[in-house]
Amino acid sequence: MRKIAIAAAALLIGAPLVWAAGENVVIEPPAEGSVTREEGLAAWNRIFEVTSHPRCSNCHVGEDNIPMWSGPSYGEARPHGMNINAGESRIGLEYVTCATCHFERAGLNDVPHAAPQVAMPWQLAPVEAEWFGKSSDEICNQLRDPDRNGNRTFLDLAAHLDHDLILHWAWNPGGGREPAPYSLQEHVNDVLAWGVAGMPCASDG
Ligand code: HEC
Ligand code: HEC
Repeated sequence: MRKIAIAAAALLIGAPLVWAAGENVVIEPPAEGSVTREEGLAAWNRIFEVTSHPRCSNCHVGEDNIPMWSGPSYGEARPHGMNINAGESRIGLEYVTCATCHFERAGLNDVPHAAPQVAMPWQLAPVEAEWFGKSSDEICNQLRDPDRNGNRTFLDLAAHLDHDLILHWAWNPGGGREPAPYSLQEHVNDVLAWGVAGMPCASDG
């Protein structure tokens, strides 16, 4: 059995104080063969609750390159204000870069309507990882497809979830924003269970 304990706090040296609490995500997949297809699909359903949540899907948008806004004072998600378009660079190089507003200022995530910021460049997810408005089955098939998930195994996906500071923000967004459901550790555990079950999708039949 693989057991990789990653002290997120150690990765965050030099990051602003907001992250000082740190998280300690443990990547410990269940034993080979110990997760049934049904359990894998149940884990997937929880993964979908996370990936379709605005704290994730607002950045995981399609080829129109338009990030989405949603928060306590918005009902449905709506296109980012101020005509922001991330361009094909997904970071706004063609227009205004995301970092113009989403730059690092420790603590400001607690201010409602301030631009969220993390200790890495703010940008849209790759267009292949389009989740906004996509069905459970569409996202399931994307996340298990090496051509569209950054050529990652489920173990790589779990490790990515811990390394990415944006994700630590999504579970601790501040400013009255609703955090992503479950916790980062529970989400990692679900990705591992889904992986050990063979990454099933409901449409597999
Ligand atoms: C600020 C925008 C942003 C938000 C919010 C965001 N992501 Fe991402 N996501 C990215 C970027 C950028 C990448 C590409 C990073 C890379 O490949 O190293 C990415 C890649 C990923 C990947 C890699 C697999 C793939 O298909 O590309 C996963 C898994 C992922 N994000 C999960 C999440 C989850 C879960 C949430 C919410 C809890 C979330 N993301 C919220 C920007 C975001
Ligand atoms: C002119 C300033 C500005 C620029 C440039 C900008 N943003 Fe924003 N962004 C904001 C502000 C302000 C908010 C908070 C809006 C609110 O909560 O009412 C925000 C919120 C967001 C959110 C919603 C976060 C959430 O889940 O609540 C996403 C996603 C986002 N921006 C992505 C981007 C991306 C990607 C770029 C670059 C292409 C970008 N922004 C460029 C000011 C900016």
